[in-house]
Amino acid sequence: MSHPDDRAKFKAESDEYALQMGRDNALFEMSKNLVVAADKYKYSYLWTWLGVPIIQMPADIVAMQEVVWRSKPDVIVETGVARGGSLIFFASLLKLIGNGTVVGVDIDIRAHNRDTIVSHPMAERISLVEGSSVADNTLERVRSMIPEGASVMVVLDSDHSRDHVLAELRAYAPLVTRGQYLIVADTILGFLSRSETPTARSKIWHQGDEPLAALRQFMAESDDFELDHEMNGKLIMASSPNGYLRKRA
Ligand SMILES: C[S@@+](CC[C@H](N)C(=O)[O-])C[C@H]1O[C@@H](n2cnc3c(N)ncnc32)[C@H](O)[C@@H]1O
Repeated sequence: MSHPDDRAKFKAESDEYALQMGRDNALFEMSKNLVVAADKYKYSYLWTWLGVPIIQMPADIVAMQEVVWRSKPDVIVETGVARGGSLIFFASLLKLIGNGTVVGVDIDIRAHNRDTIVSHPMAERISLVEGSSVADNTLERVRSMIPEGASVMVVLDSDHSRDHVLAELRAYAPLVTRGQYLIVADTILGFLSRSETPTARSKIWHQGDEPLAALRQFMAESDDFELDHEMNGKLIMASSPNGYLRKRA
């Protein structure tokens, strides 16, 4: 028995549900409550990618996979390396795609974490830059690792204070090429009240001094990016709702 080709219909329906989800405030409230409750167990620290800890929630990992597959960047720049899982994740996707490199920037790349990254099978696609993400010499080094004409995606996941993320947005957004993504991590902090803010962290960022506050300011300054409403709509149980931006073509 032959079945009609329903791929376009399936996609249209999924996109529509994602948009509807994005407008479901009651659902988002439940999701927030779950994020806060699970944080007691450091939920975002429990996952690994190809054996390496990745400090992300599963929904964001899947969303970033969709973004990379869709836009197939030549270079992914990520600020905030930590234990290296997200760099390994991006590198593994680019390896499957058959093209692309990853540049990881962190103010403190500890010897054991560097060792994990450079000895991993994905290492050949990864370059590390140690330094504050907004320091001039760091930015110079990052720029020097982007070949002329390369398409570039950026993920900002370092110091989550408003001022730092805003400085990163101003410095890294110009690197993103048209049609590519700029992902601002941990925007969930902007949706949490003081009492809901995760505290099991070395640094704590409260509402107003966090990535979403920076993103709002940046969007008021620049018209270059648009929110991907379908992607953001389906981000429940996620760290970065409203953090997925696409540079206008
Ligand atoms: C949330 S972790 C990154 C998680 C990682 N992207 C992952 O998904 O596994 C944040 C990292 O940002 C780094 N960091 C903090 N301040 C920084 C700065 N000013 N410049 C660059 N990196 C910074 C920290 O050292 C830490 O490793």
